[in-house]
Amino acid sequence: MRLDKFLSECHLLSRKESSRAVKCGRITVNGRQTVSADMSISPDTDEIALDGTPVSYNKFIYVMLNKPEGYVSATEDSSLPTVVELLSEDLQKFKPFPCGRLDRDTVGLMILTNDGELSHLLLSPKRHVPKKYLFKSADPLPLGAEQSFENGVILADGYECKSAKIELSEDRSGGIITLNEGKYHQIKRMVAALGSKVTYLERIEFSGIALDKNLGRGEYRHLTEDEVKALKNAVNRK
Ligand code: URA
Repeated sequence: MRLDKFLSECHLLSRKESSRAVKCGRITVNGRQTVSADMSISPDTDEIALDGTPVSYNKFIYVMLNKPEGYVSATEDSSLPTVVELLSEDLQKFKPFPCGRLDRDTVGLMILTNDGELSHLLLSPKRHVPKKYLFKSADPLPLGAEQSFENGVILADGYECKSAKIELSEDRSGGIITLNEGKYHQIKRMVAALGSKVTYLERIEFSGIALDKNLGRGEYRHLTEDEVKALKNAVNRK
């Protein structure tokens, strides 16, 4: 494998930055500085270091995206832009997909990965991975909404939601909802069952990982090693 390809696939640098890092002498292969980006290396046996720190090859990517409105949570769509299209071409080559869905008009934290097993475990209904949302509603929610959420809201189609938590703002027209399941349009339907309509919805946490406040809408970054570890721990995977 070419050295610059290896470096960009470690997800620390883009392909362009990788070539530049090699040319600037920041890379060593088995302790020796090299300036040839096309050098052939073996990810299994060669030790590659960037500025003296060994880098490890990782075929999986884990990205935190601050989803803007108007994008669908899918890898392709015949007419609408997808969240995957917000990632660089370099990242799209790893075939990432959204870990779970947000509605087209919902904004905020979305994790994209190509680690199918982890995604499957995180989304499994058996796991109850918590997700936190900030919401606003057209009307104040009735007294007793907190208890209804705790007891399990009954949706218009008769489905009884799992126990959830709602923390309302003073005017009761917004707040934070924490869910332990992920049914289609769940928050919109829960709020509708209490007689109002969601006017704004933003996911702010997924399995204990908070949306990075430094990310503007449409921006993304790789998850840190600790964040990836936390996701794996949440589903007992190494
Ligand atoms: N609940 C909804 O209604 N929509 C979302 O996008 C997420 C949760």
